[in-house]
Amino acid sequence: MTQFQTDQAQLYRATFMHTPANPFKHADALHLQEDGGLLVGGGIIRASGSYADLSNEYPAAPVSDLRGGLLLPGLIDTHVHFPQVRVIGGLGMPLLDWLDQVALPEEARLADPGYARAVAREFTRGLVQAGTTTALVFGSHFAAAVDVFFEEAARLGLRSVAGLVVSDRLLRPELHTTPQRAYDQARTLIEKWHGVGRNLYAVTPRFSLSASEGILEACGALLREFPDVRFTSHINENRAEIGTVKELFPASRDYLDTYEQAGLVTPRSVLAHNVHPTDRELGVMAAHHCTAAHCPCSNSALGSGFFPLRRHLDAGVHVALGSDVGGGTGFSLLKEGLQAYFMQQLLGGNGVPLTPAHLLYLSTRAGAEALGLGDLTGDFSAGKQFDAVLLSPQAGTPLRAVYDHAAGPKRQLAATFATGTAGDVARVWIGGDLVHERTSLND
Ligand code: GUN
Ligand code: ZN
Repeated sequence: MTQFQTDQAQLYRATFMHTPANPFKHADALHLQEDGGLLVGGGIIRASGSYADLSNEYPAAPVSDLRGGLLLPGLIDTHVHFPQVRVIGGLGMPLLDWLDQVALPEEARLADPGYARAVAREFTRGLVQAGTTTALVFGSHFAAAVDVFFEEAARLGLRSVAGLVVSDRLLRPELHTTPQRAYDQARTLIEKWHGVGRNLYAVTPRFSLSASEGILEACGALLREFPDVRFTSHINENRAEIGTVKELFPASRDYLDTYEQAGLVTPRSVLAHNVHPTDRELGVMAAHHCTAAHCPCSNSALGSGFFPLRRHLDAGVHVALGSDVGGGTGFSLLKEGLQAYFMQQLLGGNGVPLTPAHLLYLSTRAGAEALGLGDLTGDFSAGKQFDAVLLSPQAGTPLRAVYDHAAGPKRQLAATFATGTAGDVARVWIGGDLVHERTSLND
């Protein structure tokens, strides 16, 4: 362990919970400290356990008392669109109509870097206010807007994985590029931003519907050349979309095959939605350790369908959560967790009954694993970055009443997913830095 001075470390005293293991595989995955301690030095958790043990072992460390709230690992959003903040809530349309009428006209406005900067500020603030500390971000079609995004993410201290969105057909002319330009601009952005501070790069074709084989091959070339960059796109979201992809790629076995042929299905790949997969696709995703980003609010708002979680788990496909703003309805991963729970309940015998431990895992550790950041963030084990969110409902709210009278922290956790909002987020830390603070813990 790196040397650190215990008298410069901070001891956080709090009720905390985390899922260092996967509750879909281990019954005792939820770890809970009712009166817990986290010793943080240099932004890293140096020791994690009961407050009694840690205060004995590190008597010189100043104590920050967070009792009365619930301290959780920072939330991790594995699918969210930076240019779509201002069009959240375009309800009433299926995917392709919503793209044409709502999302793409707004995305075209990001050609103006000044506009992009204002949106990037709204976006990065929206994430941390909701308790999100790490995000896999669908960027913009404009390289200058992606630059601006990385600058704003760095300014706030967000842990972000993002990239230039590339397409060369069927959107609108101003959002189209060419394979060569897509390659060149992405390369420049990778060299400028990948691994700089908390920023990482993700190669990002929008979806096969708007991509030629040539542009997917350019994406594959980037992944081969930069073995540490991530990959993200959309897949199997909507039946009309899937039908069009089939017509555009007559030689492909299915939607996944369009990515597979270009070398884009890897352990570093996160594919959003996957509401209507075939068994072959699930088998290949599992074999390549690729992640499905489940976005339940978006799937509901756009009427895309019910995510087949049971089939993903049975096939061995890794699943994490995404808000899919602006097809989704907001930045809160608490709301996504609740909607995932609702949808699995409504599937009856075909659904997976989700416990609060599953919801916490899906919104924290599962995302870290999806992004190859499992050694860095996602839980409160010693050695991880101190990425954390303090939930502390304001006095007079129903959630405060639950916190004050609940039978125990597990009930508080369930109620947090059931009814918690950004208003209940009192403080957020990333790498030990306080990046968001509600004015008062109790107001
Ligand atoms: N497929 C291609 N682009 C998008 C998008 O912006 N949102 C969603 N939900 N699906 C997409
Ligand atoms: Zn999306």
